[in-house]
Amino acid sequence: MATDPSDRAGRSPRRTATVFTAVTCTALTLLATSCARGEDEAAGGQDGGDAAAQAQVLDEAAGSDETCSAEQAGIEEFDLKDMKVGFSQSEAESNPFRITETASIKKEAEKRGVELITANAQSDFAQQISDVQDLMSQGAEVLIIAPLNSDGWEPVLAEAERKQVPIVTIDRQINGDACNDYVTFIGSDFVEQGRRAADQMIEALGGKGKVAILLGAAGNNVTTERTKGFKERVEEKAPDIEIVFEQTGEFTREGGQSVTEQLIQSNPDIDGIYAENDEMGIGAVTALRGAGKQPGDVEIVTVDGTEEAVQLIIDGWIHGVVESNPRFGPLAFDAHESFGKGEEVPVELIISDREYDAENAEEELPNAY
Ligand code: AHR
Repeated sequence: MATDPSDRAGRSPRRTATVFTAVTCTALTLLATSCARGEDEAAGGQDGGDAAAQAQVLDEAAGSDETCSAEQAGIEEFDLKDMKVGFSQSEAESNPFRITETASIKKEAEKRGVELITANAQSDFAQQISDVQDLMSQGAEVLIIAPLNSDGWEPVLAEAERKQVPIVTIDRQINGDACNDYVTFIGSDFVEQGRRAADQMIEALGGKGKVAILLGAAGNNVTTERTKGFKERVEEKAPDIEIVFEQTGEFTREGGQSVTEQLIQSNPDIDGIYAENDEMGIGAVTALRGAGKQPGDVEIVTVDGTEEAVQLIIDGWIHGVVESNPRFGPLAFDAHESFGKGEEVPVELIISDREYDAENAEEELPNAY
């Protein structure tokens, strides 16, 4: 971001930034948001679930000690209420993860009375770059980006720097310089998600068998890290589990189905499938059903926490799901609000994820998305 704040329209820089430590900032944020959410949504969360249980919760032990303030970024302070916010969604809203993520951003903007403009790149990275440039041309002064890819953001970062537009990235990372290129990244610990998926697979197979991985789309940190965590944990804890097949299903249901159809041709004795998101896992179930398999013939473990996947645990098709919570609205707006006030915001905010299995699926189904 530019170090000369004087080119930001109409506002002069303030140099008396209120400074919070990383821990204080996240703790305050958490307290503030959970109180507000508890009251505002007392009527029940999405689909009658429990709003508090559905909300994202920061993992205070994770995240970064490094912080970013408006002063450090060379951006003058602002009141988020007066800003036009641009939100760029990466993938098509056929995946409940994306539907819930966009709905959460819109709901939070509405709740705060903040003007929001949005775009959806439908999984086309060139489109997403031009979407974000368009949002800035339409006057977005603050950005929330759910990036499709982690690399290739230079044109957007340069323009945001020139226009002094702060960026918060959610759910996937942009590879760049924290505080210079973006204020903060908010998302899960994806390596840990992979490890927890491996633990579920090891348990399902009793530590022995042939496993396939339905990889997410290439070019982003989520796929790389979910794969890394899974493989490391299997290697460390279950030497008798062999990973015999890996192919991308592009994070889509159709992809998961067609890759699984190929998998059961080439590896008819497969024991387990780790699908790096629910949509691919649901596609895998369709393929297995089509091949005449019964629930439990192939153990499936997935990541996300969609209603359909949790229902498939109850139906016996999926062994377990590691949650990845897409309800980013409150934390994303909190981060911009704190940054605008001159506070220090940790450059990485990591949320904690729950897990679904046969023990809790029925009870937790209303909290899935
Ligand atoms: O980046 C998050 C991942 O993207 C979600 O787990 C997946 O469903 C989506 O495609």
